[in-house]
Amino acid sequence: MADFHEFYPLRRHNTFGFDVRARFAVHVRSESDLQAALADPRAQNLPLVVLGGGSNVVLTQDLDALVLLMEIPGYAVAAANEAFLVTAGAGENWHALVCRTIADGMPGLENLALIPGTAGAAPIQNIGAYGVELRERFDSLRAFDRYSGGFVHLSLEQCRFAYRDSLFKREGRDRYIITAVTLRLPSPWQPVLGYAELARELAQDTTATPTADRIRDAVIAIRSRKLPDPAQVGNAGSFFKNPVVDAGQRDALLARYPNLVSHAQSDGSYKLAAGWLIDQCGFKGVSDGPVGVYGKQALVLVHHGGGTGQELLALARRIADAVQARFGVRIEPEPVVL
Ligand code: EPU
Repeated sequence: MADFHEFYPLRRHNTFGFDVRARFAVHVRSESDLQAALADPRAQNLPLVVLGGGSNVVLTQDLDALVLLMEIPGYAVAAANEAFLVTAGAGENWHALVCRTIADGMPGLENLALIPGTAGAAPIQNIGAYGVELRERFDSLRAFDRYSGGFVHLSLEQCRFAYRDSLFKREGRDRYIITAVTLRLPSPWQPVLGYAELARELAQDTTATPTADRIRDAVIAIRSRKLPDPAQVGNAGSFFKNPVVDAGQRDALLARYPNLVSHAQSDGSYKLAAGWLIDQCGFKGVSDGPVGVYGKQALVLVHHGGGTGQELLALARRIADAVQARFGVRIEPEPVVL
């Protein structure tokens, strides 16, 4: 029998620190734990919610659901053609995995250092930072398929990764429960130094070659300067995705706002810096009771304690409306809202 906890407090299972309860929660430490939980009579009439580190969710109310707290461990390495294949259990801490692969002589994840959350959650929003997205280091994953009732193997192509998006945020949302992720770390390794801020950080010491350790440390330094530590203040990293607009709209905006921050995409469209748009609307550092906008990075919403996910969403809506009114661009939340 799975070990169900009734009216389980989730405050420590979401990095915003919202104080909601789950009707039932169960610690899932193996695939058989997962199967036992799903087969339990108490699970039959309840919706399921899968939580990894809880670093990309907004919990807006008590969840009348069975919450699966994914804690499956695992770390295994196989050699492939010009790559190492590293398989991590869904519950492995992402940053610890980044550090372990580097220490074991398999660089490739250094640009993704210090991202909160678990390995199993990484594919859901196709985590990305400082010039690398998960999909560029991804081989495949293993998941429980609730439709077929068995475990499946999903390839890179099947996961349909896009910018902060995947199958698991769309059609697969209520279908798959990820239990393990296999990363493909190319060997020989090539550093990715194209992100201007990272290049600048590394250029401070011109004597040393950029090893994976140094790149990881530079990423940690940059992130620590501009992103709040969830252990200190509730947050879920970037709260909005950077909006993508066509070249015509970008040119029109640039004509009116010469300081507009935008980056050309391979398909001719442009990604705008949502942080810049929000900053221009005057929200940076603004507080609205228990919730607010981080003072060092306008893209990050924070919860100081004692507030609710609904208050946070109300602030997010005000911000999106202000950006829309001023720039004619709609910014969309990045985290999953429950
Ligand atoms: N900017 C401002 N004001 C602000 C914030 C940003 O003017 O308050 C400007 C910056 O000056 C810069 C530009 O916006 O020119 C972009 O800022 P930054 O390099 O910090 O990146 P970002 O677009 O804010 C994205 C990701 C981050 C990721 C970094 C680095 C998204 C939604 N966010 O942030 O991901 O770490 O790039 O690659 O794509 C996350 O998803 O949770 C996350 C933290």
